[in-house]
Amino acid sequence: MVILDGKKISQEIKKEISETVKSIIASGKPAPHLAAILAGNDGASETYVGHKEKDCHEVGFRSTVLRFPDSVSRNELLSEISRLNDSDDITGLIVQLPLPKHISEKEIIEAINPAKDVDGFHPVNVGKMVTGLSAFVSATPYGIIELMKRYAIETAGKNCVVLGRSNIVGRPMANLLSQKAYPGDCTVTVCHSRTKNIREICVNADIIVAALGVPEFLTADMVKEGAVVIDVGITRVKADNKNGFRLVGDVKFDTVSEKASFITPVPGGVGPMTRVALLKNTLKAYEAKKQ
Ligand code: GUN
Repeated sequence: MVILDGKKISQEIKKEISETVKSIIASGKPAPHLAAILAGNDGASETYVGHKEKDCHEVGFRSTVLRFPDSVSRNELLSEISRLNDSDDITGLIVQLPLPKHISEKEIIEAINPAKDVDGFHPVNVGKMVTGLSAFVSATPYGIIELMKRYAIETAGKNCVVLGRSNIVGRPMANLLSQKAYPGDCTVTVCHSRTKNIREICVNADIIVAALGVPEFLTADMVKEGAVVIDVGITRVKADNKNGFRLVGDVKFDTVSEKASFITPVPGGVGPMTRVALLKNTLKAYEAKKQ
């Protein structure tokens, strides 16, 4: 069994990105610049945006976080997005979700210039991705594709089961793995909360991507010997340690890892790959823009 070391691979990719940034700066051009809008005071969002700032800093990108109170109006957010869309100095623009309840996330996402939508949430990018055109792909599926590539995991003709149908992970993941490409060319089944016989479906899978957000959902009896198992879940579960919690994936790691050929750990698997995928998208946005 091989552990898919997202932490190590993401460090390699960050090194590659830093080298590119160094040569951009050496040629007298400004570094890529990621702007993040953070509205309200969701604790997890604060953490994620903090990670994004740190990651940008690490590879030499500029980053700006624009904070708004929970009471921010739709118009204030739309006018800030419009300003960032028009700014030559901003390469990529993300709006951290969830937004305060009175704001329509759909409307806000649709206001982002697709050429700066490095989260890949805008319908233009989703549509391009689905039709196999060059697009910004949302960070988690993009990171997983990159991880599979770097470990040269065989995908052509494989039965793949994606657990979860979210717009950010499950759907784009299923789509990418079914495309005529590498990694891809899989026969994909998407399972969700209404699926019957999940165990029977999973047990025939060569590749399983678990993205349900249910701790330790995927158990060894659901996994075929030699399957590739990708765990997107990350849930804090109370524990008797100094933190008071431990991070648990959607996969029961101890027993599933005994059957899997390749498996991602939690933490240190998909998480760091997701983070680095945003950096890759930002660099792509920078390179696509005429300087
Ligand atoms: N909320 C949870 N995940 C994400 C993400 O990848 N991007 C943004 N903007 N918000 C999120």
